[in-house]
Amino acid sequence: MGFLQRTHACGALRAEHAGQQVALNGWAHKVRDLGGLCFVDMRDRTGLVQLFLDPAQFKNLAEIRNETCLSVTGEVRVRAEGTKNPKMPTGDIELLVTGYTVLGPSKPIPFPISDEEQMQSVNEELRIKHRYLDLRRPSMYQKLAIRAAVIRRMRSFLDSRSFIETETPLFTKSTPEGARDYLVAYRLEPGKWYALPQSPQQYKQLLMVAGIERYYQIAKCFRDESQRADRQPEFTQLDLEMSFVTQEDVLEVAEGLLREVINGTIDEFGLDKAHVEPFVRLTYDESMMLYGCDKPDLRFGLKLFDITPAVANSGFGVFKAAAESGALIRGVRYPGGSGLSRKEVGVLEDFSKEFGAKGMASIAVLTEADPEARQIGDKYVKSSIAKFFSDEELAQILHLSEAEPGDLLCFIADEYTAGNNVLYRLRNEIGDRCGLRDPKVLNFCWIVDFPLVEWNATDARWDAVHHPFTGPKEEDLLYIDSDPARIRADCYDVVCNGLEMASGSIRIHRPDIQAKVFQLLGIDEKTQRERFGHILDAFSFGAPPHGGIAPGIDRLIMTLTDTDNIREVIAFPKTGGGYDPMMDAPSTVDPQQWAELGLRLSQ
Ligand code: AMO
Ligand code: AMP
Repeated sequence: MGFLQRTHACGALRAEHAGQQVALNGWAHKVRDLGGLCFVDMRDRTGLVQLFLDPAQFKNLAEIRNETCLSVTGEVRVRAEGTKNPKMPTGDIELLVTGYTVLGPSKPIPFPISDEEQMQSVNEELRIKHRYLDLRRPSMYQKLAIRAAVIRRMRSFLDSRSFIETETPLFTKSTPEGARDYLVAYRLEPGKWYALPQSPQQYKQLLMVAGIERYYQIAKCFRDESQRADRQPEFTQLDLEMSFVTQEDVLEVAEGLLREVINGTIDEFGLDKAHVEPFVRLTYDESMMLYGCDKPDLRFGLKLFDITPAVANSGFGVFKAAAESGALIRGVRYPGGSGLSRKEVGVLEDFSKEFGAKGMASIAVLTEADPEARQIGDKYVKSSIAKFFSDEELAQILHLSEAEPGDLLCFIADEYTAGNNVLYRLRNEIGDRCGLRDPKVLNFCWIVDFPLVEWNATDARWDAVHHPFTGPKEEDLLYIDSDPARIRADCYDVVCNGLEMASGSIRIHRPDIQAKVFQLLGIDEKTQRERFGHILDAFSFGAPPHGGIAPGIDRLIMTLTDTDNIREVIAFPKTGGGYDPMMDAPSTVDPQQWAELGLRLSQ
């Protein structure tokens, strides 16, 4: 016979159950042998409860080790005063065990099943190799439960608005989203390959041509690209698409969905987070100028400022020369940074240099008069470069930076893009140091009006900023031959706390414009036919105007669960190199399989 099925969940037992006979199923979380008395904390998915086993009654207690799977029966009893544990929800009671069965013995475990600090020191690859043990930790269970709730809420939001959930193939043709494809060999015609989709982009557009009008899918996407803390080679999007819509319509649905799903999940799990407010909206140009990037963390202000006009003709050679060469001198305030030592400022300068800065100049705005400081209006400034500036230039710098007493003003002189690349990181670093990146706040914003294309200097060609199906703004189409960099797209991103959460656009639905954009991207007519003939053909059969968006589900769960590591929110993730140490995948295959696919290694 198998085992006695549970009458109660471990975490549900309370003093009111005292005197009841119960059966529990779960794992020995922690076995404690206290001088002949055996206590076991037993765990199931709902929590822990203390068992008491009398060694006089059970002769073979050594068989119960940490993580042994058990079925137990016994009587609930209230613990004696002084032995109650107010930290445990079940801490008022324990189970006096009258019988038990070992359902699954356990070898010694490779790391503790703990949510304590000690997990920090456990090697992540070891955790992933034994993921089935790692997932026994309550915090990992909670992340998977939050993930499931988010997906359930997404489905419910869209189902109630007449969206149709539609599956699209995984064995398909390349859909470019800027990464390499994962390829699957085709046995029946050696030399031919399927590509796994980087996203369902083309299929969802074809569904719009098909008249589906409102589509969504919880879609697995596959991208062979360099790995980062917020990227996995396979990840999940909520992919959606709508017909007969403008950008405003898509923004309204997506914002409504994200707010309802996230706020609902915060409430359902009692997460320590404020509700998401209506999204602020910034254009791409505003975001780059004010925050140095297209994924600004808006939990704090500290906008970048530009002092080029104030210092272009100053006596400070570095700034003067930079301005003459067309660079900008921009900066960011560091509230409270005026007290930093020379060495500490040096650390910040080294940080900037790590991201390509040639240097970082700074001016401290003191909170009170100082013999080494210069008085400018009602403020006192101190800096090794102050001597190069007139009072008027310093006054302008203070004005343009909106400096406050206590600030360290940090300056980077560089060409716009290179300067942005440093300044946005410096701003985030300052935000971290000042405790302005509050995990309780989820600050969502829209970035709109992205450029359609960007110049790829390495390969001397135009690349799509989003993907090749994104629609240029009609009024900018006239620049397509003369000045493609000027074309803005009906393209939008959702950003939360400095992380890109979603991307979308209104698509091209006319074959002539699609062909023209392909051409701009250096895809000649022959290649267009080979790679995208199907979509160009489809667009010539009455294609409706359409657009959509795809929030990354893994990243949403990251923000909800306060983790900056995407692997923490995926049940079975890959390590940095795209390797699965648990399954040992990728791995070699039988030579027979190579032969069937008509393949052999060239070396
Ligand atoms: P995009 O490529 O911007 O757009 O992806 C949309 C969202 O998917 C998430 N994401 C990722 N998450 C984890 N690991 C990755 N490697 C990864 N790559 C992307 C991000 C991102 O914002 N077809 C378009 C969408 C559309 O136009 O409708 C697309 O895939 O959260
Ligand atoms: P230098 O003349 O190179 O010794 O630099 C004088 C000061 O200007 C130092 O504090 C440098 O860090 C700073 N500096 C140099 N280059 C730049 C730059 N491109 N942007 C901002 N500060 C710079």
